[in-house]
Order: sequence, then structure tokens, then C-alpha cells
Amino acid sequence: MTKPTISIPVQLPSAHYNVLVGATALDVLSEQAASLVKGRRALLVIDDQLPDRTIGAAVTALSHAGFALATTHLHALETNKTLAETQRLLIAAADEQLDRTDLVVALGGGIVGDVAGFVAASYKRGIAVIQCPTTLLSMVDASVGGKTGVNLNTRAGLMKNLVGAFHQPSVVLADVRTLDSLDDRHLRAGLAECIKHALIAENAIEERDMFQWTQGIIPRAIARDQEALIELVARNVRVKAAVVASDEREEASSTVGGRALLNLGHTFAHAIETIPNLSPDDNPENAPLVHGEAVALGLIAAAYTSRELNMLDENAVQLITDIVNTAGLPTTIANLPDDATILHLMAHDKKAHAGSLRLVLLESIGVARVVENVEDEFIAAGLAAIRA
Ligand SMILES: NC(=O)c1ccc[n+]([C@@H]2O[C@H](COP(=O)([O-])OP(=O)(O)OC[C@H]3O[C@@H](n4cnc5c(N)ncnc54)[C@H](O)[C@@H]3O)[C@@H](O)[C@H]2O)c1
Repeated sequence: MTKPTISIPVQLPSAHYNVLVGATALDVLSEQAASLVKGRRALLVIDDQLPDRTIGAAVTALSHAGFALATTHLHALETNKTLAETQRLLIAAADEQLDRTDLVVALGGGIVGDVAGFVAASYKRGIAVIQCPTTLLSMVDASVGGKTGVNLNTRAGLMKNLVGAFHQPSVVLADVRTLDSLDDRHLRAGLAECIKHALIAENAIEERDMFQWTQGIIPRAIARDQEALIELVARNVRVKAAVVASDEREEASSTVGGRALLNLGHTFAHAIETIPNLSPDDNPENAPLVHGEAVALGLIAAAYTSRELNMLDENAVQLITDIVNTAGLPTTIANLPDDATILHLMAHDKKAHAGSLRLVLLESIGVARVVENVEDEFIAAGLAAIRA
């Protein structure tokens, strides 16, 4: 028997909302939308890879709640996470005459959620958004916490998430049924963020067994056991919610707490994922890497950099490599450019601080901390470990 929907509160200075996780979470879109906003117009932003049954469920729910709907599709590529697409959606909202009491609904993965969230943040200086994540990654991470935004193509290349706003959703509906149509590659990609959460869980919510638990549940999640997916999403949302609650706008100066910890592996990942010819299995047809694959490599690189700095022991590095393998994610990558190129890209990542590399590194499984001024030779050790 499927478990009932789990409700996880996110309590922030600027907003309180719930993340509803279950196999029927989308069924409450109608009542949630009707009760959360006064207006009765909505812009529904739909990932164009979703099957009709998922789209139909959202359209029917919003129509039943009496919403006049403008629907628009987004093709979820990083190169479409742009101001141009944002403008297109803003115009759709304006054409439908949405006002400040109305609603944006994001139905898709992290790309749709980030762009639609940014549209909601900027349209008429901010209207409500309901996030309906349809990838594992967006359920456990992107839909929770209010970071919205788009990439910017600069002289230095594509800069991820350079333009955006904090804009918390009114509710998040994580319906694991929608994952039925998600391909295995993207399901595994979501596991990378679950591994990241397990690696910071002790700082975040003093959960000591999360890493081992995650190692155990991954095979069931890959086999698409619905109960396992619900448990996995719920437990990860609790970690994300706790971290965000401690530091809503990533302003904490603490090196052992706060939202910055969520960047574990991500300074590496953001550099690696912008390199267009990398593929997880050396097959050019599978290039570029998807975000979660780059995060997996980033976690391994961060583990080796931590070991090189004598922060982390060898056994922990091996356990991290093992869990990434269990998830079927890459632990090494062919054709990685030379260190100087990667270091240059890493220095441009906005998670780097004022020209010196500031990384989240590991002290043990479950405990991470921010380290300032990490010297290039230690980062090179991390990069050496992920070179195939
Ligand atoms: N805002 C945040 O806090 C935050 C956190 C982590 C990641 N992100 C962002 O999220 C993005 C990655 O999100 P993602 O991994 O969800 O990828 P994505 O949005 O690119 O979706 C992955 C692929 O799956 C398809 N898809 C989505 N749902 C589907 C479904 N149910 N069935 C079939 N196909 C489906 C999409 O069309 C796409 O091809 C990145 O841009 C990243 O920067 C944001």
C-alpha cells in the first residue's frame, strides 16, 4: 500500500510553506492553488518532455479550481535557461493579464523550476509560484529554498545562474508518480544531490546515519520502488529545508553551517558541466554532462582535495567513490581540459569568492566546512582523481 503524502514544513524568515511528497501529491494542486492565491489566472510553464498524463493532471486541477490558464512549454536545456526565455514567459503572463494576485505554476525539472520561478519573482515585482518538480533532482533540491534564475552567456562562456532572485514558492508538490517517465540517466543524476545531502547531513540536521541509509536505499530508488522514492525525497527535503532555514539568503559567516554547504562539489561541477564535449561514458552522443553527473564528479574531486589537505581520511574517500558507483554515476571523466583551464572556470563561478578559491570540503562523512583560499595544488589533486 502506498504511504500517504508527507508534508515537510519549510520555515524561513520570509515565508513558511510546505513540501508535499507522495504518489498523489499533484492531486492536491487544485485545492492548494485555490486556497493559496486570491487571483484566478495562472501561467503554467510545462517541461516539453512530460507525457500528456502529467500535463493533463495539472491542467485539469487548475481548471477545476477555476483558473484561466495560459500554458507555455519550455525545452529544458541549460542554453534555454536564459533571459530571452524569461522574457517570452513574462510576455505570456502579460498577454494573459496576470496581476499580482495571480499565479505561476512550474511543472518540470530544475530548469523549468528555475526559469518559471524567476518569472514569478520578477513579474509585477513578484507573484506567487507553485513548484511541481518532475525530476528527482528538482524534488530533492531545486524546487525547495527559493533560488530562481537563469544563465548568462558572457565573454568567459556560459555562466550558470548568474542572474536571478530569491523567491520562495507558496507550496511544493513533489509527486513521485511523475518520475515514471523520467529516464534512468536523469534519475541517477538526482541521486548525486542526495549523496551531497548525505555528506552534509550531520552539520545540517545532526543526522548521523544518513550516508549509510542513502547507500542502502539507492538500489531501490534506481529500481523505481515508489515507497523508496518517497522516503528518499522526503528525507532529502528535510535536509535541504533545514539548511535553507538556517540561512535563507546564503549570508551566514559560519564555515560549518549555512547554505554555502549545499555547494559541496558544485564549484567543480559548475566548471565541468560548461565543457560541451564531456560525456559520462566517453560516448560523444551522450555529451554534455547533465548537472547531477557533474555534481558526482565534483563530490569526488572535493573528497580528494579534502584528503590532500589532510582533512579527510582515505577510508571516507573510498566510501564516497563507492556510493557514487552504486548510483551509476561517473567517478572519472575522459577529455577533461588541463588544470589551468578548469581552475580558470572555477574562479569564474559565482560560488568562488573575490578571486580566491573558496570551497566546501569534507572533514568526515556527514561533516563539511567552508575553506577559504584553497591553493591550486590541492584542487589539482582533486582534478587528477577524476581524470580517466
Ligand atoms: N534552484 C536551485 O536551488 C537549484 C538546485 C539544484 C539545481 N538547480 C538547477 O536545476 C537544473 C537541473 O535540473 P534537473 O536535473 O531537474 O534537469 P532538467 O530540468 O534539465 O530536466 C532533465 C531532463 O528531464 C526532462 N524531464 C523532466 N521531468 C521529466 C519527466 N517527469 N519525465 C520525462 N522527462 C522529464 C527534461 O525535459 C530534461 O530533458 C540546473 O539548471 C541546475 O542549475 C537549481
